[in-house]
Amino acid sequence: MIKLISFFGSRGLKIVKAENQYVWDDKDNKYLDLHAGHGVAFLGHNNKIVIEYLIKQMNEVMTLTPAFETPIREEMLRELSDLVPTNFNNVFLQNSGAEAVELALKVARKITKRKKFIAFKNSFHGRTFGALSVTWNKKYREPFEPLLDVEFLTFNSVEELKKINEDVAAVIVEPIQGEGGVNPATPEFMKALREVTKEKGALLIVDEVQTGFGRTGKVWAFQHFGIEPDIFTAGKAIGGGFPVSAVFMPDWIAQNLEEGDHGSTYGSNPLAAAAVTGASKVLKTFNVPEQARLKGETFIKLLRENLSEFRSVREIRGMGLMIGVDLRFNPSLAINIMQQERVIALKAGITTIRFLPPYMITTEDMEWALNAARRGIIETERKKTSV
Ligand SMILES: Cc1ncc(COP(=O)(O)O)c(C=O)c1O
Repeated sequence: MIKLISFFGSRGLKIVKAENQYVWDDKDNKYLDLHAGHGVAFLGHNNKIVIEYLIKQMNEVMTLTPAFETPIREEMLRELSDLVPTNFNNVFLQNSGAEAVELALKVARKITKRKKFIAFKNSFHGRTFGALSVTWNKKYREPFEPLLDVEFLTFNSVEELKKINEDVAAVIVEPIQGEGGVNPATPEFMKALREVTKEKGALLIVDEVQTGFGRTGKVWAFQHFGIEPDIFTAGKAIGGGFPVSAVFMPDWIAQNLEEGDHGSTYGSNPLAAAAVTGASKVLKTFNVPEQARLKGETFIKLLRENLSEFRSVREIRGMGLMIGVDLRFNPSLAINIMQQERVIALKAGITTIRFLPPYMITTEDMEWALNAARRGIIETERKKTSV
């Protein structure tokens, strides 16, 4: 029989059902899902409002290119207008975060007529050629070189930003590095980055694929830093579980783009528009960013109060519901043990356990996660000392 190519290591679970912050395996065991499809299910698995929008749209028209207008597109644009700063009044939808990054990079080249990009150490922006070029991890990049001309600077080093010069088309940054270890940017760094890119005529692209749509306590994470990028991307949570990403930009950039500069068979299709519309309604109706902020504070406090005393815990950090427990060892065994305790977490960087919970996580769920993490850490420490 044909097999799925194993780009992902198996978690050894067959999932047959999902609802809100939980999933069930084929033996009817219930799991707390803090992995949530790499953060996609931030609005909860099988969100009822998103499903309603999708079903209605499926019964009307499932596929059309953006050459045709649809009522759902108009509704989506109205909904999104409430969620982005007013000057970001141009958007294009695609199907994955990497594609959103590709478009942002292409636009930067077209606008500036420059070739070079700057990204940061420990960055992750996806695995297509452009997105891979600005992704730091050599393991992902090296087998596929040569890639685009990219220089990697130290994240959060204001000093290193001096290397940005008039050759640079764009600098791309995650406001909180997700895949690289849940590393929040500092306000000084983001402010200096905004200033220097303006001064040198390079575009600032903020990649909100993981941080965006409420997860960090504001709709967009750049809003924590009092800055605005030139272009920003979104993905994961924005479709409430449906595969869709977005690139937002102001008029002064979009006006320079012409028919044929970009495209995608499925880009901005009616189902994606329905999913984004439903997801936007959920975000507003349930005040999701504020819930993420408050619950994130509670969760981080609980983890700090109970796990900081372990000698193998280096730091507990994050913003809103994007949280990392950084260890002094590889976290894979701890993550496996958490899974035995029916809590699904994921790894970030080399040493971090990452939690990307759906926004409806409860205090009891947090206790459940804490106890699972504690057992994971204790058992790993035991193993380490007995080796
Ligand atoms: C910040 C960031 N950008 C881009 C991507 C790539 O998104 P996708 O896997 O949907 O292509 C990811 C995925 O984890 C991400 O975290």
